[in-house]
Amino acid sequence: MAAKQFILALDQGTTSSRAMIVDASGAVRAIAQHPFRQIFPQPGWVEHSPTEIWSSQSGVATAALANADLTDRDIAAIGITNQRETTIVWDRETGEPVYNAIVWQDRRTAEFCDGLRAHSGEIIQQKTGLIPDAYFSGSKVNWILANVDGARARAEAGRLAFGTVDSWLIWKLTNGTRHVTDVTNASRTMLFNIHTMDWDDELLNLLAVPRSMLPEVVASSGVCATTSGLIHGVPVAGIAGDQQAALFGQMCTSPGMAKCTYGTGAFMLLNTGTTPVASKNRLLTTVAWKIGNTVEYALEGSMLVAGAVVQWLRDELQMIRSSAEVEQLAATVSNSNGVVLVPAFAGLGAPHWDPYARGSLLGLTRGTSRAHIARAALEGIALQATDVLEAMQNDSGLPLAQLRVDGGAAANNLLMQIQADVLGIEVVRPKNAEATVLGAAYLAGLAVGYWPDKETIASQWQVDRIFRPAIEPHDRSKTRATWKRALQRVSQWTR
Ligand code: G3P
Repeated sequence: MAAKQFILALDQGTTSSRAMIVDASGAVRAIAQHPFRQIFPQPGWVEHSPTEIWSSQSGVATAALANADLTDRDIAAIGITNQRETTIVWDRETGEPVYNAIVWQDRRTAEFCDGLRAHSGEIIQQKTGLIPDAYFSGSKVNWILANVDGARARAEAGRLAFGTVDSWLIWKLTNGTRHVTDVTNASRTMLFNIHTMDWDDELLNLLAVPRSMLPEVVASSGVCATTSGLIHGVPVAGIAGDQQAALFGQMCTSPGMAKCTYGTGAFMLLNTGTTPVASKNRLLTTVAWKIGNTVEYALEGSMLVAGAVVQWLRDELQMIRSSAEVEQLAATVSNSNGVVLVPAFAGLGAPHWDPYARGSLLGLTRGTSRAHIARAALEGIALQATDVLEAMQNDSGLPLAQLRVDGGAAANNLLMQIQADVLGIEVVRPKNAEATVLGAAYLAGLAVGYWPDKETIASQWQVDRIFRPAIEPHDRSKTRATWKRALQRVSQWTR
Protein backbone atom coordinates (compact mmCIF):
# COMPACT_ATOMS: atom_id res chain seq x y z
CA MET A 1 0.00 0.00 0.00
CA ALA A 2 1.31 3.47 -0.89
CA ALA A 3 2.36 5.66 2.05
CA LYS A 4 -0.37 7.90 3.38
CA GLN A 5 0.58 11.24 2.04
CA PHE A 6 -1.39 13.92 3.82
CA ILE A 7 -2.67 15.24 7.13
CA LEU A 8 -6.26 16.39 7.51
CA ALA A 9 -6.58 19.34 9.88
CA LEU A 10 -9.97 20.41 11.21
CA ASP A 11 -10.34 23.93 12.55
CA GLN A 12 -13.66 24.43 14.27
CA GLY A 13 -13.73 28.21 14.85
CA THR A 14 -16.25 30.59 16.37
CA THR A 15 -17.85 31.68 13.12
CA SER A 16 -16.92 28.93 10.68
CA SER A 17 -15.74 25.35 10.35
CA ARG A 18 -12.70 24.77 8.17
CA ALA A 19 -10.81 21.75 6.96
CA MET A 20 -7.45 21.64 5.25
CA ILE A 21 -5.30 19.02 3.64
CA VAL A 22 -1.65 19.62 4.51
CA ASP A 23 1.31 17.98 2.81
CA ALA A 24 4.76 17.12 4.16
CA SER A 25 6.20 20.51 3.14
CA GLY A 26 3.54 22.24 5.29
CA ALA A 27 1.71 23.50 2.18
CA VAL A 28 -2.07 23.58 2.23
CA ARG A 29 -3.28 21.39 -0.69
CA ALA A 30 -7.00 21.94 -0.29
CA ILE A 31 -9.30 23.92 1.92
CA ALA A 32 -13.02 23.98 2.57
CA GLN A 33 -14.84 26.41 4.84
CA HIS A 34 -18.40 26.82 6.00
CA PRO A 35 -19.83 29.53 8.22
CA PHE A 36 -22.61 28.58 10.60
CA ARG A 37 -25.33 30.26 12.60
CA GLN A 38 -24.60 32.58 15.52
CA ILE A 39 -27.49 32.56 17.97
CA PHE A 40 -28.02 35.59 20.23
CA PRO A 41 -31.05 34.76 22.44
CA GLN A 42 -30.54 37.80 24.73
CA PRO A 43 -28.03 40.65 25.00
CA GLY A 44 -24.73 39.16 26.15
CA TRP A 45 -25.74 35.56 25.32
CA VAL A 46 -24.07 33.69 22.44
CA GLU A 47 -24.95 30.15 21.41
CA HIS A 48 -24.23 27.69 18.60
CA SER A 49 -26.15 24.60 17.57
CA PRO A 50 -23.95 21.54 18.32
CA THR A 51 -25.63 19.78 15.42
CA GLU A 52 -24.62 22.58 13.06
CA ILE A 53 -21.09 22.57 14.45
CA TRP A 54 -20.86 18.89 13.56
CA SER A 55 -22.63 19.05 10.20
CA SER A 56 -20.56 22.02 9.03
CA GLN A 57 -17.32 20.43 10.27
CA SER A 58 -17.96 16.98 8.78
CA GLY A 59 -19.18 18.67 5.58
CA VAL A 60 -15.98 20.65 5.09
CA ALA A 61 -13.81 17.64 5.95
CA THR A 62 -15.38 15.59 3.17
CA ALA A 63 -15.34 18.60 0.84
CA ALA A 64 -11.61 19.20 1.43
CA LEU A 65 -10.88 15.55 0.64
CA ALA A 66 -13.00 15.75 -2.51
CA ASN A 67 -11.36 19.04 -3.58
CA ALA A 68 -7.95 17.38 -3.35
CA ASP A 69 -9.26 14.24 -5.04
CA LEU A 70 -8.36 12.14 -2.01
CA THR A 71 -10.07 9.62 0.24
CA ASP A 72 -9.61 8.78 3.91
CA ARG A 73 -7.07 6.13 2.81
CA ASP A 74 -4.66 8.94 1.81
CA ILE A 75 -4.74 10.52 5.27
CA ALA A 76 -2.00 9.64 7.77
CA ALA A 77 -3.70 11.38 10.69
CA ILE A 78 -6.29 13.97 11.68
CA GLY A 79 -5.42 17.00 13.79
CA ILE A 80 -8.19 18.93 15.51
CA THR A 81 -8.15 22.51 16.68
CA ASN A 82 -11.12 24.43 17.96
CA GLN A 83 -12.70 27.50 19.49
CA ARG A 84 -11.93 26.97 23.16
CA GLU A 85 -14.15 27.12 26.28
CA THR A 86 -17.40 26.73 24.30
CA THR A 87 -19.42 24.23 26.28
CA ILE A 88 -21.55 21.32 25.10
CA VAL A 89 -23.46 18.88 27.31
CA TRP A 90 -24.99 15.79 25.71
CA ASP A 91 -26.70 12.55 26.63
CA ARG A 92 -24.29 9.63 26.48
CA GLU A 93 -26.96 7.19 25.34
CA THR A 94 -28.78 9.16 22.70
CA GLY A 95 -25.89 11.43 21.71
CA GLU A 96 -28.37 14.35 21.82
CA PRO A 97 -27.16 17.69 23.20
CA VAL A 98 -29.31 18.83 26.14
CA TYR A 99 -28.87 22.51 25.27
CA ASN A 100 -27.18 24.65 22.63
CA ALA A 101 -23.42 25.11 22.86
CA ILE A 102 -22.76 28.09 25.15
CA VAL A 103 -20.06 30.05 23.36
CA TRP A 104 -16.92 31.41 25.03
CA GLN A 105 -18.12 34.99 24.43
CA ASP A 106 -21.34 34.40 26.38
CA ARG A 107 -21.68 36.58 29.50
CA ARG A 108 -24.73 34.99 31.19
CA THR A 109 -22.70 33.67 34.11
CA ALA A 110 -20.94 36.96 34.85
CA GLU A 111 -22.64 37.46 38.22
CA PHE A 112 -22.09 33.89 39.28
CA CYS A 113 -18.39 34.39 38.46
CA ASP A 114 -18.28 37.61 40.53
CA GLY A 115 -19.19 35.43 43.50
CA LEU A 116 -16.57 32.83 42.62
CA ARG A 117 -13.93 35.51 42.26
CA ALA A 118 -14.83 37.01 45.63
CA HIS A 119 -14.76 33.82 47.68
CA SER A 120 -12.42 31.51 45.75
CA GLY A 121 -10.57 33.70 43.26
CA GLU A 122 -7.14 32.95 44.64
CA ILE A 123 -7.46 29.21 44.83
CA ILE A 124 -8.96 29.07 41.34
CA GLN A 125 -6.15 31.16 39.91
CA GLN A 126 -3.51 29.16 41.72
CA LYS A 127 -4.87 25.80 40.51
CA THR A 128 -6.08 26.64 37.01
CA GLY A 129 -4.01 29.68 36.02
CA LEU A 130 -7.29 31.42 35.12
CA ILE A 131 -9.01 34.52 36.48
CA PRO A 132 -12.58 33.39 37.33
CA ASP A 133 -14.71 34.72 34.48
CA ALA A 134 -17.80 33.83 32.47
CA TYR A 135 -15.39 33.18 29.57
CA PHE A 136 -14.39 29.71 30.81
CA SER A 137 -16.42 26.49 30.55
CA GLY A 138 -16.97 25.70 34.24
CA SER A 139 -19.69 28.26 34.97
CA LYS A 140 -21.39 27.42 31.66
CA VAL A 141 -21.71 23.74 32.64
CA ASN A 142 -23.03 24.87 36.01
CA TRP A 143 -25.62 27.03 34.24
CA ILE A 144 -26.81 24.19 32.00
CA LEU A 145 -27.18 21.82 34.96
CA ALA A 146 -29.11 24.46 36.91
CA ASN A 147 -31.36 25.65 34.07
CA VAL A 148 -32.16 22.72 31.81
CA ASP A 149 -35.01 20.63 33.15
CA GLY A 150 -33.81 17.40 34.69
CA ALA A 151 -30.20 17.97 33.65
CA ARG A 152 -28.69 17.88 37.13
CA ALA A 153 -30.36 14.59 38.02
CA ARG A 154 -29.29 13.03 34.71
CA ALA A 155 -25.74 14.32 35.20
CA GLU A 156 -25.60 12.89 38.69
CA ALA A 157 -26.82 9.55 37.38
CA GLY A 158 -23.84 9.54 34.98
CA ARG A 159 -25.98 9.97 31.87
CA LEU A 160 -24.61 13.29 30.63
CA ALA A 161 -21.26 14.09 29.08
CA PHE A 162 -19.58 17.50 29.01
CA GLY A 163 -17.08 18.47 26.40
CA THR A 164 -15.47 21.43 24.70
CA VAL A 165 -15.79 21.42 20.91
CA ASP A 166 -12.81 19.06 20.39
CA SER A 167 -14.51 16.45 22.61
CA TRP A 168 -17.80 16.81 20.78
CA LEU A 169 -16.15 16.39 17.36
CA ILE A 170 -14.18 13.32 18.46
CA TRP A 171 -17.32 11.82 20.00
CA LYS A 172 -19.06 12.29 16.65
CA LEU A 173 -16.05 11.16 14.58
CA THR A 174 -15.88 7.91 16.57
CA ASN A 175 -19.62 7.21 16.63
CA GLY A 176 -19.86 7.96 20.32
CA THR A 177 -17.11 5.61 21.42
CA ARG A 178 -14.44 8.10 22.58
CA HIS A 179 -14.97 10.91 25.08
CA VAL A 180 -11.64 12.72 25.31
CA THR A 181 -10.15 16.20 25.39
CA ASP A 182 -6.57 17.37 25.34
CA VAL A 183 -4.65 19.20 28.05
CA THR A 184 -4.92 22.60 26.34
CA ASN A 185 -8.69 22.51 26.08
CA ALA A 186 -8.96 21.09 29.61
CA SER A 187 -6.88 24.00 30.88
CA ARG A 188 -9.65 26.42 29.78
CA THR A 189 -12.49 24.84 31.72
CA MET A 190 -11.67 26.19 35.22
CA LEU A 191 -12.07 22.57 36.37
CA PHE A 192 -8.55 21.38 35.54
CA ASN A 193 -5.49 21.68 37.75
CA ILE A 194 -2.57 22.70 35.52
CA HIS A 195 0.00 21.51 38.09
CA THR A 196 -1.34 18.00 38.73
CA MET A 197 -2.66 17.88 35.11
CA ASP A 198 -5.93 16.34 36.26
CA TRP A 199 -9.51 17.38 36.95
CA ASP A 200 -9.61 18.83 40.46
CA ASP A 201 -12.20 17.72 43.03
CA GLU A 202 -12.18 21.02 44.91
CA LEU A 203 -12.93 22.91 41.69
CA LEU A 204 -15.58 20.37 40.67
CA ASN A 205 -17.26 20.96 44.03
CA LEU A 206 -17.10 24.72 43.71
CA LEU A 207 -18.71 24.58 40.27
CA ALA A 208 -21.02 21.69 41.22
CA VAL A 209 -19.95 19.59 38.22
CA PRO A 210 -20.04 15.79 38.67
CA ARG A 211 -16.74 14.12 37.71
CA SER A 212 -18.62 11.48 35.70
CA MET A 213 -19.43 14.11 33.03
CA LEU A 214 -15.82 14.83 32.21
CA PRO A 215 -13.78 13.54 29.29
CA GLU A 216 -10.53 11.62 29.59
CA VAL A 217 -7.61 14.06 29.23
CA VAL A 218 -4.98 13.17 26.64
CA ALA A 219 -1.76 14.71 25.26
CA SER A 220 -1.92 17.29 22.45
CA SER A 221 0.17 15.06 20.22
CA GLY A 222 -0.58 11.32 20.32
CA VAL A 223 -3.09 8.89 18.84
CA CYS A 224 -6.19 9.08 21.01
CA ALA A 225 -8.94 7.70 18.76
CA THR A 226 -9.65 6.14 15.39
CA THR A 227 -12.48 7.49 13.28
CA SER A 228 -15.41 5.41 12.15
CA GLY A 229 -18.17 6.56 9.86
CA LEU A 230 -17.92 8.90 6.93
CA ILE A 231 -14.18 9.30 7.39
CA HIS A 232 -13.13 5.84 8.39
CA GLY A 233 -10.16 4.27 10.12
CA VAL A 234 -8.01 7.40 10.45
CA PRO A 235 -6.13 8.07 13.70
CA VAL A 236 -6.98 11.29 15.52
CA ALA A 237 -3.46 12.17 16.59
CA GLY A 238 -3.40 15.88 17.46
CA ILE A 239 -5.72 18.11 19.49
CA ALA A 240 -5.17 21.66 20.70
CA GLY A 241 -7.26 24.71 21.42
CA ASP A 242 -6.91 27.09 18.49
CA GLN A 243 -4.63 29.56 20.25
CA GLN A 244 -2.23 26.92 21.47
CA ALA A 245 -2.28 25.34 18.01
CA ALA A 246 -1.35 28.72 16.52
CA LEU A 247 1.53 29.09 19.01
CA PHE A 248 2.82 25.74 17.78
CA GLY A 249 2.10 26.50 14.11
CA GLN A 250 4.10 29.72 14.52
CA MET A 251 6.90 27.59 15.96
CA CYS A 252 7.03 29.66 19.14
CA THR A 253 8.52 26.59 20.77
CA SER A 254 11.18 28.25 22.95
CA PRO A 255 10.57 30.30 26.09
CA GLY A 256 10.31 34.01 25.32
CA MET A 257 8.67 33.59 21.90
CA ALA A 258 5.22 35.14 21.43
CA LYS A 259 2.47 35.25 18.84
CA CYS A 260 -0.82 37.06 18.40
CA THR A 261 -3.67 35.56 16.35
CA TYR A 262 -6.30 37.96 15.04
CA GLY A 263 -9.57 36.04 14.66
CA THR A 264 -12.98 36.82 16.13
CA GLY A 265 -10.98 37.82 19.20
CA ALA A 266 -7.22 38.32 19.40
CA PHE A 267 -5.05 36.13 21.54
CA MET A 268 -1.44 36.80 22.48
CA LEU A 269 0.49 33.86 23.90
CA LEU A 270 4.04 33.82 25.25
CA ASN A 271 5.84 30.49 25.60
CA THR A 272 7.24 30.16 29.15
CA GLY A 273 8.69 26.66 28.75
CA THR A 274 8.13 23.87 31.26
CA THR A 275 7.38 26.32 34.10
CA PRO A 276 3.89 27.71 34.60
CA VAL A 277 4.42 31.42 35.33
CA ALA A 278 1.80 32.80 37.72
CA SER A 279 0.63 36.17 36.45
CA LYS A 280 0.66 39.21 38.70
CA ASN A 281 -0.88 41.31 35.95
CA ARG A 282 -4.16 39.52 35.27
CA LEU A 283 -2.99 37.38 32.39
CA LEU A 284 -3.84 33.71 32.18
CA THR A 285 -1.43 30.87 32.75
CA THR A 286 -2.33 28.15 30.35
CA VAL A 287 -1.07 24.82 29.04
CA ALA A 288 0.68 25.32 25.69
CA TRP A 289 0.80 21.60 24.81
CA LYS A 290 1.80 18.20 26.02
CA ILE A 291 4.03 16.28 23.65
CA GLY A 292 5.23 12.91 24.91
CA ASN A 293 5.49 13.40 28.64
CA THR A 294 6.60 17.00 28.45
CA VAL A 295 4.14 19.73 29.34
CA GLU A 296 4.89 23.29 28.30
CA TYR A 297 3.07 26.40 29.43
CA ALA A 298 2.22 29.85 28.13
CA LEU A 299 1.05 33.19 29.42
CA GLU A 300 -2.00 34.39 27.54
CA GLY A 301 -3.69 37.70 27.02
CA SER A 302 -7.18 37.11 25.62
CA MET A 303 -8.86 40.03 23.83
CA LEU A 304 -12.47 39.03 23.40
CA VAL A 305 -13.27 41.08 20.30
CA ALA A 306 -10.89 41.89 17.43
CA GLY A 307 -11.93 40.81 13.90
CA ALA A 308 -15.53 40.84 15.14
CA VAL A 309 -15.42 44.65 15.22
CA VAL A 310 -14.70 44.69 11.49
CA GLN A 311 -17.57 42.25 10.91
CA TRP A 312 -19.76 44.64 12.87
CA LEU A 313 -18.74 47.57 10.63
CA ARG A 314 -19.62 45.36 7.67
CA ASP A 315 -22.84 43.66 8.83
CA GLU A 316 -24.49 46.06 11.25
CA LEU A 317 -23.27 49.50 10.17
CA GLN A 318 -22.88 48.39 6.54
CA MET A 319 -19.96 50.74 6.22
CA ILE A 320 -17.94 48.31 4.13
CA ARG A 321 -18.96 45.44 1.85
CA SER A 322 -16.20 43.00 2.80
CA SER A 323 -13.87 42.79 5.81
CA ALA A 324 -10.87 43.38 3.56
CA GLU A 325 -12.32 46.78 2.51
CA VAL A 326 -11.68 48.20 5.99
CA GLU A 327 -8.00 48.58 5.15
CA GLN A 328 -8.62 50.70 2.05
CA LEU A 329 -11.15 52.87 3.84
CA ALA A 330 -8.99 53.42 6.94
CA ALA A 331 -5.97 54.20 4.75
CA THR A 332 -7.74 57.22 3.25
CA VAL A 333 -7.05 59.14 6.48
CA SER A 334 -3.75 59.46 8.32
CA ASN A 335 -5.29 59.28 11.78
CA SER A 336 -8.64 58.78 13.49
CA ASN A 337 -9.08 62.50 14.15
CA GLY A 338 -9.59 61.93 17.88
CA VAL A 339 -12.09 59.09 17.52
CA VAL A 340 -11.58 56.07 19.77
CA LEU A 341 -13.44 52.79 19.29
CA VAL A 342 -13.25 50.52 22.33
CA PRO A 343 -14.24 47.06 21.05
CA ALA A 344 -15.71 45.89 24.38
CA PHE A 345 -18.73 44.27 22.68
CA ALA A 346 -18.41 41.24 24.97
CA GLY A 347 -16.90 43.10 27.92
CA LEU A 348 -13.14 43.44 28.25
CA GLY A 349 -10.77 40.51 28.55
CA ALA A 350 -7.14 40.63 29.63
CA PRO A 351 -5.79 42.42 31.50
CA HIS A 352 -8.96 44.30 32.53
CA TRP A 353 -11.49 41.42 32.93
CA ASP A 354 -14.54 43.64 33.01
CA PRO A 355 -17.64 41.74 31.80
CA TYR A 356 -19.75 44.87 32.31
CA ALA A 357 -17.79 47.11 29.93
CA ARG A 358 -19.40 47.63 26.52
CA GLY A 359 -18.24 48.76 23.10
CA SER A 360 -18.03 52.53 22.68
CA LEU A 361 -17.28 55.12 20.09
CA LEU A 362 -15.85 58.25 21.68
CA GLY A 363 -14.63 61.62 20.43
CA LEU A 364 -17.12 62.09 17.57
CA THR A 365 -17.41 65.50 15.95
CA ARG A 366 -19.28 66.82 12.91
CA GLY A 367 -16.06 66.22 10.99
CA THR A 368 -15.97 62.49 11.81
CA SER A 369 -16.10 60.37 8.67
CA ARG A 370 -16.55 56.66 7.96
CA ALA A 371 -12.83 56.48 7.36
CA HIS A 372 -12.04 57.89 10.83
CA ILE A 373 -14.31 55.26 12.39
CA ALA A 374 -12.69 52.49 10.33
CA ARG A 375 -9.26 53.69 11.40
CA ALA A 376 -10.36 53.91 15.04
CA ALA A 377 -11.61 50.30 14.77
CA LEU A 378 -8.16 49.11 13.64
CA GLU A 379 -6.46 51.20 16.32
CA GLY A 380 -8.80 49.75 18.97
CA ILE A 381 -7.79 46.21 17.99
CA ALA A 382 -4.11 47.12 18.13
CA LEU A 383 -4.32 49.16 21.33
CA GLN A 384 -5.88 46.29 23.28
CA ALA A 385 -2.75 44.34 22.45
CA THR A 386 -0.50 47.04 23.96
CA ASP A 387 -2.08 46.52 27.38
CA VAL A 388 -1.54 42.77 27.07
CA LEU A 389 2.06 43.07 25.91
CA GLU A 390 2.87 45.41 28.77
CA ALA A 391 1.40 42.93 31.26
CA MET A 392 3.35 40.09 29.65
CA GLN A 393 6.64 41.91 29.89
CA ASN A 394 5.98 42.74 33.52
CA ASP A 395 5.07 39.12 34.35
CA SER A 396 7.90 37.43 32.51
CA GLY A 397 10.56 40.06 33.13
CA LEU A 398 11.48 39.66 29.45
CA PRO A 399 11.36 42.65 27.13
CA LEU A 400 9.81 41.14 24.00
CA ALA A 401 11.69 42.09 20.85
CA GLN A 402 9.28 40.63 18.37
CA LEU A 403 5.70 39.47 17.96
CA ARG A 404 4.70 36.85 15.37
CA VAL A 405 1.24 37.42 13.92
CA ASP A 406 -1.33 35.31 12.12
CA GLY A 407 -5.08 34.86 11.63
CA GLY A 408 -7.40 36.49 9.09
CA ALA A 409 -6.78 40.11 10.08
CA ALA A 410 -2.98 39.67 9.99
CA ALA A 411 -3.36 40.04 6.21
CA ASN A 412 -4.36 43.67 6.84
CA ASN A 413 -1.07 45.56 6.29
CA LEU A 414 -2.37 48.77 7.80
CA LEU A 415 -3.52 47.01 10.96
CA MET A 416 -0.13 45.30 11.28
CA GLN A 417 1.69 48.61 10.80
CA ILE A 418 -0.52 50.28 13.43
CA GLN A 419 0.19 47.27 15.68
CA ALA A 420 3.97 47.73 15.33
CA ASP A 421 3.58 51.49 15.87
CA VAL A 422 1.62 51.23 19.10
CA LEU A 423 3.59 48.29 20.50
CA GLY A 424 6.98 49.79 19.63
CA ILE A 425 8.37 46.37 18.61
CA GLU A 426 8.70 44.39 15.38
CA VAL A 427 5.63 42.57 14.15
CA VAL A 428 6.52 39.56 11.99
CA ARG A 429 4.10 37.89 9.61
CA PRO A 430 5.00 34.44 8.27
CA LYS A 431 4.43 33.35 4.67
CA ASN A 432 1.86 30.84 5.77
CA ALA A 433 -0.50 32.76 8.05
CA GLU A 434 -2.62 29.61 8.65
CA ALA A 435 -0.79 28.98 11.92
CA THR A 436 -3.78 27.51 13.75
CA VAL A 437 -4.52 24.81 11.25
CA LEU A 438 -0.83 24.13 10.65
CA GLY A 439 -0.30 23.70 14.40
CA ALA A 440 -3.03 21.05 14.53
CA ALA A 441 -1.56 19.30 11.50
CA TYR A 442 1.96 19.39 12.97
CA LEU A 443 0.83 18.00 16.35
CA ALA A 444 -0.95 15.13 14.60
CA GLY A 445 1.84 14.47 12.12
CA LEU A 446 4.50 14.37 14.84
CA ALA A 447 2.54 11.71 16.70
CA VAL A 448 2.42 9.31 13.76
CA GLY A 449 5.95 9.94 12.47
CA TYR A 450 4.75 11.90 9.41
CA TRP A 451 7.30 14.53 10.49
CA PRO A 452 10.27 13.13 12.38
CA ASP A 453 10.80 16.01 14.83
CA LYS A 454 10.12 19.65 15.71
CA GLU A 455 13.30 20.81 13.96
CA THR A 456 12.02 19.55 10.60
CA ILE A 457 8.80 21.45 11.16
CA ALA A 458 10.59 24.61 12.30
CA SER A 459 12.51 24.72 9.01
CA GLN A 460 9.16 25.24 7.23
CA TRP A 461 8.45 28.55 8.98
CA GLN A 462 9.34 31.54 6.73
CA VAL A 463 9.00 35.29 7.08
CA ASP A 464 6.64 37.09 4.73
CA ARG A 465 7.01 40.62 6.06
CA ILE A 466 8.37 42.50 9.05
CA PHE A 467 6.52 45.63 10.21
CA ARG A 468 8.74 48.03 12.13
CA PRO A 469 7.52 50.80 14.47
CA ALA A 470 7.40 54.06 12.54
CA ILE A 471 6.07 56.57 15.06
CA GLU A 472 7.87 58.62 17.69
CA PRO A 473 7.76 57.37 21.32
CA HIS A 474 6.06 60.66 22.25
CA ASP A 475 3.17 59.98 19.83
CA ARG A 476 2.90 56.41 21.07
CA SER A 477 2.53 57.61 24.66
CA LYS A 478 -0.08 60.16 23.63
CA THR A 479 -2.15 57.56 21.77
CA ARG A 480 -1.98 55.16 24.70
CA ALA A 481 -2.97 57.87 27.18
CA THR A 482 -6.10 58.66 25.14
CA TRP A 483 -6.90 54.94 24.92
CA LYS A 484 -6.60 54.61 28.70
CA ARG A 485 -8.99 57.50 29.22
CA ALA A 486 -11.48 55.82 26.89
CA LEU A 487 -11.15 52.55 28.83
CA GLN A 488 -12.00 54.38 32.05
CA ARG A 489 -15.19 55.73 30.47
CA VAL A 490 -16.49 52.29 29.40
CA SER A 491 -15.49 50.44 32.55
CA GLN A 492 -18.44 48.76 34.39
CA TRP A 493 -20.86 50.36 31.88
CA THR A 494 -23.81 47.98 32.43
CA ARG A 495 -23.39 47.80 36.20
O1 G3P B 1 -10.79 31.37 23.50
C1 G3P B 1 -11.58 31.55 22.36
C2 G3P B 1 -10.81 31.25 21.12
O2 G3P B 1 -10.33 29.95 21.15
C3 G3P B 1 -11.65 31.53 19.87
O3 G3P B 1 -10.86 31.68 18.78
O4 G3P B 1 -10.32 31.99 16.42
O5 G3P B 1 -12.59 31.29 17.01
O6 G3P B 1 -11.79 33.61 17.53
P1 G3P B 1 -11.45 32.20 17.35
